[in-house]
Amino acid sequence: MLKVTSVDILNTNNLKSIKPLEIPIPVGQLYWPNFNEYETQFRALFERGYYTNHGPLLNELENQLCQYLDVKNVICVTNATIGLIMASEALDLNGKVITPSFTFIATPQSLAWSGIEPVFCDVNLEDHQIDPFEIEKLITPDVTAILGVNLWGNCCSPDVIVKIAKKYNIKVFFDSAHSFGCKYGEKFIGNFGDLEVFSFHATKIFSTGEGGCITTNNDALAEKLRNIRSSYGINKIVEVTKTSNGRMSEAQAAIGLLNLKNIDFYISRNLEIFNLYKEKLSQISGLELYEATNVSASNYQYIVCKIDESKFGITRDELCDILIAKNIIARKYFNPGSHKVYPFLQLSKSNTLNLPNTEILNSQLLQLPIGSKVTNTIVNFICEVIKAVKTSVDALEIQ
Ligand SMILES: Cc1ncc(COP(=O)(O)O)c(C=O)c1O
Repeated sequence: MLKVTSVDILNTNNLKSIKPLEIPIPVGQLYWPNFNEYETQFRALFERGYYTNHGPLLNELENQLCQYLDVKNVICVTNATIGLIMASEALDLNGKVITPSFTFIATPQSLAWSGIEPVFCDVNLEDHQIDPFEIEKLITPDVTAILGVNLWGNCCSPDVIVKIAKKYNIKVFFDSAHSFGCKYGEKFIGNFGDLEVFSFHATKIFSTGEGGCITTNNDALAEKLRNIRSSYGINKIVEVTKTSNGRMSEAQAAIGLLNLKNIDFYISRNLEIFNLYKEKLSQISGLELYEATNVSASNYQYIVCKIDESKFGITRDELCDILIAKNIIARKYFNPGSHKVYPFLQLSKSNTLNLPNTEILNSQLLQLPIGSKVTNTIVNFICEVIKAVKTSVDALEIQ
């Protein structure tokens, strides 16, 4: 039997009758403060004439983030990538670090900046998070740390991973770019391991436009990180080998302060959107909607679908093409996998990588839009398109 393609589906009357959205809807859009409040903050910023170098707004944002996350130290930075690079430096890492390939490329790239070789570990098929049992198998004398990643408003098993790191006397830190505002048990993500790094990029639940922060309950490590960030905002001078410019500007901090006031509202709106997708997509054979079940509170920032071609009838890639043709800008995170792209491809060639679950997720996951521009009407539209696709696939297969 010939394979059904996205072109075949788009040419069915079912799909032809659905007009594309007038304006393309990207996968994630910034929750942004009210413009009047934003204007007031910016007017004050211009009147003060103090734009960066650890100004009053940044100080206030760091204090408020410490309170919100219930963590001792927050070090705000330009973005999470810089934060991760600073983290490797502050932790004095070298040799090899175990991390998942199933993550945004910035995770292993941050290690590469410090001359560290990532050792790619597989993830669980159920929760998409790094598999602690696989971690232990990869520990060798030249491994100096584990860099866990908390994905999709969910988390890996931070307590289990911290225990493994203790057992082998190595460092442990987390890329928590996706999981701001999430809780594991009683504690907010941001309180585990030696340190954690968050992204405040535009696609994240809490945004400063571009930005990020490092959190740690270790005061000495925090001081080191402040010294690495730049000379501004340090409490005391400590010796560090390298410094950088990871400073967050007052303009970014102003946006952060306004957004932090609304974080509970943003999370509850995300939950509404998630529940609507769940209701509308629940009966579609071959499509499974991801739920963050390890955390006691999620930020619901990612709508992740797994497409099983054998039941859905077409591949994730074909479905993605159809959605994009209708101006629904779905994304295939993370494809290709980190181990499949330069320079890490070389590692894959020289080592025997065992990443079967990563490979499946790389080829089957699709992320749907969520965020400030996603109204209930848009969610309904997206789900109608997906249902129409499935109806057309089934009809074409019968012919
Ligand atoms: C898992 C993960 N880590 C790191 C980053 C890098 O964050 P930033 O864009 O703030 O540098 C991202 C960005 O999306 C990410 O998804």
